[in-house]
Amino acid sequence: MENKKSEDVSVDAKGGGIVVSDAVKEFDLGFGKRLKAVDGVSINIADGEFVAIIGPSGCGKSTILRMIASLEQPTEGEVRINSSEPALLAKQHRLGVAFQDHALLPWLNVWENVALPYRAAGMRPDPDQIESLIALVGMAGFEKSRPKQLSGGMKQRVAIARALVLNPDVLLLDEPFGALDAVTRRQMNIELQEIWSRNSITTLLITHSVEEAVFLADRLVVLTERPGRIKLIEKVPFGRPRSRDLMLTPEFHELCDQLTAALDSQESSETDEG
Ligand SMILES: Nc1ncnc2c1ncn2[C@@H]1O[C@H](COP(=O)(O)OP(=O)(O)OP(=O)(O)O)[C@@H](O)[C@H]1O
Ligand SMILES: [Mg+2]
Repeated sequence: MENKKSEDVSVDAKGGGIVVSDAVKEFDLGFGKRLKAVDGVSINIADGEFVAIIGPSGCGKSTILRMIASLEQPTEGEVRINSSEPALLAKQHRLGVAFQDHALLPWLNVWENVALPYRAAGMRPDPDQIESLIALVGMAGFEKSRPKQLSGGMKQRVAIARALVLNPDVLLLDEPFGALDAVTRRQMNIELQEIWSRNSITTLLITHSVEEAVFLADRLVVLTERPGRIKLIEKVPFGRPRSRDLMLTPEFHELCDQLTAALDSQESSETDEG
């Protein structure tokens, strides 16, 4: 397995895709205390590429995603999406985001939840687009159901449909299947791959599951413990489409084992607290 430093990662982003350059994020904890969550991370995600980030809990994964989604500003360094400021794309509703907590509105039904980004953008909902997204995530027939009537997997499907409804340039997924059982999660992985290959949308997935990351991604980024730095970037050698059978092959398991070992061999990094 190649060990690459972030500077060595040269992907032709063709002006498109996501470029994170030397991003540092420090949080002000008050009383003069600062916490460094992310330390000099550079990641280039090419247009249409699927990249997964894995790393220990608290190492700054969500912080990286939130900087790309323009929900946080980097303390140092910069983030560009298709050569623009993330805030500009967010304002233009060109970022699709889904979190572990599906964040569906309980008083709205499935159709209305998927339609929500139109309202947020001040646009008239496009019923054909909404219905085709609901069908794409396998939720046809449940348009009138409220979130409380749905299983966890169904709610995540709705959240993904909602993230995709405005045809975003970029899809940002933070542990979208973290709360699901292993069987449903595998099913969702296969469905997400199908959805992604139809749209080939630039995607960043944060996950705790090495198997999920290897199954879905073109490249994997392994982070160190906090403050998150790039420990390893690994290309996933498997062709597409990837079937469930891939997960049964020795090659798949070997790569997962290597990555798990890389995750486990975390040296304790300095802390910036206090
Ligand atoms: N708004 C904030 N204010 C202060 N500290 C924060 C804030 N957001 C995150 N942090 C801290 O930054 C570090 C990284 O948090 P982050 O949520 O990015 O981790 P993570 O890798 O996503 O973890 P997990 O795998 O558990 O979701 C943590 O120590 C967290 O406490
Ligand atoms: Mg997180």
